[in-house]
Amino acid sequence: MNNKIYIFDTTLRDGEQVPGCQLTTNEKVIIAKELELLGVDVIEAGFPISSPGDFESVIQISKAVSAPTICALTRAREGDIDVAVDSLKYAKNKRIHTGIGASDFHILHKFNSNRAEVLQRGVEAVKYAKKFVEDIEFYAEDAGRADNQFLAQMVEAVIAAGATVVNIPDTNGYCLPDEYGAKIKYLFENVKNIHKAIISVHCHNDLGLATANSLAGVINGARQIECTINGIGERAGNTSLEEVVMAIKTHQEMGVYTEINTKRIYPLSRKVSSMMRMPVQPNKAIVGKNAFAHSSGIHQDGMIKNKKNYEIMEPEDVGVSESSIILTARSGRAALKYRLELLGYTIDKDQLEIKYEEFLKLADAKKDNVNDKDLRALMGEGVENRGIFLEELEVTCGYKIQPKAKVTLKVNGQNQTVISEGNGPVDAALKSVKTILKDESTLEEFLVQTITEGHNDFGKVHMTVKQGNNTLYGFSANTDIVLASVEAYLDAINKVY
Ligand code: KIV
Ligand code: ZN
Repeated sequence: MNNKIYIFDTTLRDGEQVPGCQLTTNEKVIIAKELELLGVDVIEAGFPISSPGDFESVIQISKAVSAPTICALTRAREGDIDVAVDSLKYAKNKRIHTGIGASDFHILHKFNSNRAEVLQRGVEAVKYAKKFVEDIEFYAEDAGRADNQFLAQMVEAVIAAGATVVNIPDTNGYCLPDEYGAKIKYLFENVKNIHKAIISVHCHNDLGLATANSLAGVINGARQIECTINGIGERAGNTSLEEVVMAIKTHQEMGVYTEINTKRIYPLSRKVSSMMRMPVQPNKAIVGKNAFAHSSGIHQDGMIKNKKNYEIMEPEDVGVSESSIILTARSGRAALKYRLELLGYTIDKDQLEIKYEEFLKLADAKKDNVNDKDLRALMGEGVENRGIFLEELEVTCGYKIQPKAKVTLKVNGQNQTVISEGNGPVDAALKSVKTILKDESTLEEFLVQTITEGHNDFGKVHMTVKQGNNTLYGFSANTDIVLASVEAYLDAINKVY
């Protein structure tokens, strides 16, 4: 059996179905080009019959991207297939993804039908699509809850009808890994023509098992994984691309590989998160903010001795510049000494004892990370005039008024004021800040989240600023979104100051 695992990315179809995550066609094209550079084998670009926007996106993605296969989703209906065929007319490599429910529950309660009839409809859809496109993928929806014997019958029939790939979706994220793996094994043992097609896994994360189930499918013979960046998707999401790819890379004993350029994973994760306005949870595997951050004393000590004590993969392998040692009240002496040395302080054993006691008091009082500014103060440096502080912010904006912002910053003890215009109050305020600082950094990511839903709510601003080779993260929260944006920007910039 071939050992390559094909990566079928459905961020732009199953991922984009999520409320609030909708993208414009241009944004989809940007992500599709990034997916091409990432090295995915298939991009599911949309469900063309569902809306003119989805149809147009498949057209534009087909024009913009040439290496991956472009796939369009349909139901088992000729009308859907006609529209999908039309949308794929510019694709260099194209695939139609058609299918129908396979579980008795779907057959009865969704299609009000019976097994024989849905099987027939599935076969006819494959035969019809095959008239226009060679590469046909069939999905047996809710296969996770389907009877294995009937599923095997369906898989055999659609392969005989011309399906090149057969997708076994755990649509509701119902299966346990053993159960899903056994289902794939059963198909390999009971479908006579199974070697004529690639078996694909498409798992949802309702029980947090999508990655485990996808890997169980691969162990039992599946050779395509359907997944999304950051695991976004219906309800609890789809299988995370970054998780399955890194699990396969880390566990070479599985004997399979993907052709993903893993160094592009993290930057693309950030891009998708910001374009889809879908924050990534800090403890998310591989791409979360804390995925390579170490804060407990025992772990930090081990990390400083040898990173492999607490890191099973290199952060650089997924495009994260380096692992970080976060100083909190749980950090040990080794971590404090390590960070002080990075700041240029040499400290002997006795001094370390004294500074460590002071550090613990500070960390307890702060109830937050101890940052470099705190450490300098701890070492007796006068910090009151170091860095950049916001002294004044005055904004004018409204209907038929050119937004304007007056900003006064204290930079290394000196006040400076600038007034700028912008295309909005945030733009104007950040322009003033950048003019004062003669700052040429670029805003890579700008994410505003509300905490509750009222109009008097706090807005949380997350920002990533690129300054030379540094990527700086800034955060602030305020009921005034313009103020929060300026503060988040200064939070980022102050990290190099
Ligand atoms: O989850 C699912 O079953 C799907 C199919 C349409 C492939 O997304
Ligand atoms: Zn799905």
